[in-house]
Amino acid sequence: MASKKILVTGGAGYIGAHTVVELYASGYLPVIIDNFSKSDRTLLQGIEKITGKSLVFYEGDCANKQFLKGVFQKEAKLEGVMHFAAYKSVGESVEHPVMYYRNNLDSLLTLLEVMKEQHVNNLIFSSSCTVYGEPDSIPVDEQAPFKKAESPYGATKQMCEQILEDAVKADQNLKVISLRYFNPIGAHPSAMLGELPIDKPNNLVPYITQTAAGVRKKLVIFGGDYATPDGTCIRDFIHIADLAAAHVKAIDKLLVEDKNKGYQYYNLGTGQGVSVLQLVKEFIEVTGVTLNYEIGPRRAGDVVKTYANPAKAHAQLGWSSQYTTKDALRDAWAWEKKNLNH
Ligand code: WQD
Repeated sequence: MASKKILVTGGAGYIGAHTVVELYASGYLPVIIDNFSKSDRTLLQGIEKITGKSLVFYEGDCANKQFLKGVFQKEAKLEGVMHFAAYKSVGESVEHPVMYYRNNLDSLLTLLEVMKEQHVNNLIFSSSCTVYGEPDSIPVDEQAPFKKAESPYGATKQMCEQILEDAVKADQNLKVISLRYFNPIGAHPSAMLGELPIDKPNNLVPYITQTAAGVRKKLVIFGGDYATPDGTCIRDFIHIADLAAAHVKAIDKLLVEDKNKGYQYYNLGTGQGVSVLQLVKEFIEVTGVTLNYEIGPRRAGDVVKTYANPAKAHAQLGWSSQYTTKDALRDAWAWEKKNLNH
């Protein structure tokens, strides 16, 4: 039986690339789109090394309707779409809000238009726990309300989910699952794929590994005086391989559902809260490297404490995280060391 084709927008990015590997492993045929605005060909090469496949790839921008329509027509018949392509830096979104709204909203709106015109009805959307803001109660389940977004980036995720909810209500053929990631970390166990931050990393783990590798002078932990056991923020750090596996479970579910079951959304986390300082100490423990770090001032906009209640994804997707934070830190370090030799 021919492999089911799945369009993966942003497939050269961190989460997209790891998901493409899992799609191949599950017998799907991914069709990748990326405009390399926040990525480059490195991860595409990594996917080819891991899978042994020559990729089906189109360079272009999802917000470009002509381009997108051309891909759908050339690759007919697509069974579904996974939409990762978006800007995702909290800090950058504060400096360039209009660019974030234009890019993140236009690419989703264009995608929805082309999907409808081309009669493709299954969509997995890359969302984030950032839609909840600072949760009133933790662990966070899917009923938690959307607080006012802390950044334009977070606002684009909230708006995209609203767009999807309204689109599903209006179109009885359209089926959508949004996946709300907590904090993705780590790299593929083969060290052929990983995070490739452009310029200075915003996120914690690439900053840790670059400091350990001597690329950065020192890690600053943003704030040590929060109302948490060790004074540092708490997050739900989930291995990228677990996150990728969840996407396959989600598309499996959509493709067997014969009708629109309404807008569906799931938290993807381990269900464990780990503090920034705990993660730093775990990194030192699993890698044996010395890490130059200090506790500095708080970062504006940071949520103090959040971690997932992953029960809904477990019950309805048959998914739960398998890897530990130590696995993720070990894999992140192996990837960093491999990259050093690039
Ligand atoms: C985690 C913790 C920082 C860097 C955001 C988005 C989310 C997702 C991941 C995009 C915080 C602390 C960080 C550093 C530090 N989307 N930190 N020193 O802010 O939880 O989530 O990025 O990728 O949607 O909201 O992730 O990794 O930036 O920060 O102390 O050099 O690490 O203060 O407590 P965050 P993060």
